[in-house]
Amino acid sequence: METVVSGIRSTGKLHLGNYFGALRNFVKMQHQNNCYFFIADYHSLTTHPTPADLHGNVKQVLSEYLACGLDPEVSTLFLQSDVPEVTELYLLLNMNAYVGELERTTSFKDKVRLQPDNVNAGLLTYPVLMAVDIIIHKANKVPVGKDQEQNLEMTRKFAKRFNHMYNVDYFPEPTAYNFGEELVKIPGLDGSGKMGKSEGNGIYLSDSPEAIRKKVMRAVTDSGPVEKNQKLPEPISNLFKIMEVVSEPSTHAYFLEKYNQCEIRYGDMKKQLAEDIISFTSPFRERILSISADNAYLRKVVNRGAEQARASAAKTIKEVREIIGFKPF
Ligand code: TRP
Repeated sequence: METVVSGIRSTGKLHLGNYFGALRNFVKMQHQNNCYFFIADYHSLTTHPTPADLHGNVKQVLSEYLACGLDPEVSTLFLQSDVPEVTELYLLLNMNAYVGELERTTSFKDKVRLQPDNVNAGLLTYPVLMAVDIIIHKANKVPVGKDQEQNLEMTRKFAKRFNHMYNVDYFPEPTAYNFGEELVKIPGLDGSGKMGKSEGNGIYLSDSPEAIRKKVMRAVTDSGPVEKNQKLPEPISNLFKIMEVVSEPSTHAYFLEKYNQCEIRYGDMKKQLAEDIISFTSPFRERILSISADNAYLRKVVNRGAEQARASAAKTIKEVREIIGFKPF
């Protein structure tokens, strides 16, 4: 039983790639570990959302994760901004984070390049806040993708530095939670690469059937196989890959055979694929709609999560304050 913390970006609806990547594994893993899942809404302020967008995004993302099976009875599911203890540890940890090392992180350098007009201090100290999210629950495992590895390394550095500075063995040094083989990469519909939000090639769990049909029919293909049993080029293998996860094995086998015999009609395959994606996503879409319409339920979920997360965070803060030397007379 590990203590696992995972921060969820508050922007970005879930697409099939998210589902078959981390999410499906979160749902399983929550039963074997002590999990804290939270929506990183403080972090999202670095991009200055309007109040309406901030609230709407948080609600959408929370509804989607619940619809996918994150279970508030099993995991601690909360909003980062409901745990003020996070901001206190953030202040304390900022004293031990050096401007130089923060400036050298790749994500910060990327932001400086991509948004030179909004290089705010929150961006610089983003890794500190993320470290706090993790260590405030004394977590030892964090499920992270490649893009977050450096942030996790910074977390270990800050944890170790604190321990060393005060000569204590207080914060664990968290490592990546590895799903290994379980991580299925879903390609996009644009011919190459994986499905991603910024790539604009995604099918979202909340997409309507019409939107899904349109996207699939527009997916990149080629002019067709030229010889029997040839190797599948990427745009075509991508469609088969998606078919593999949403369709019956016999459907996948049928179209593969057609391809191998040079008899495939991509239009037919896409029609089938679209319908199978719709069958797969529809139950999610319906749950997302009903959950997001139920404010009373959402309120109950976040209140319960906040209470649990705050209990754990408050214990850490109390101990950290003592270690630092803020003691009662
Ligand atoms: N930085 C993460 C992302 O962009 C989100 C995040 C914030 C996070 N705090 C975290 C992830 C703590 C894991 C643990 O995806």
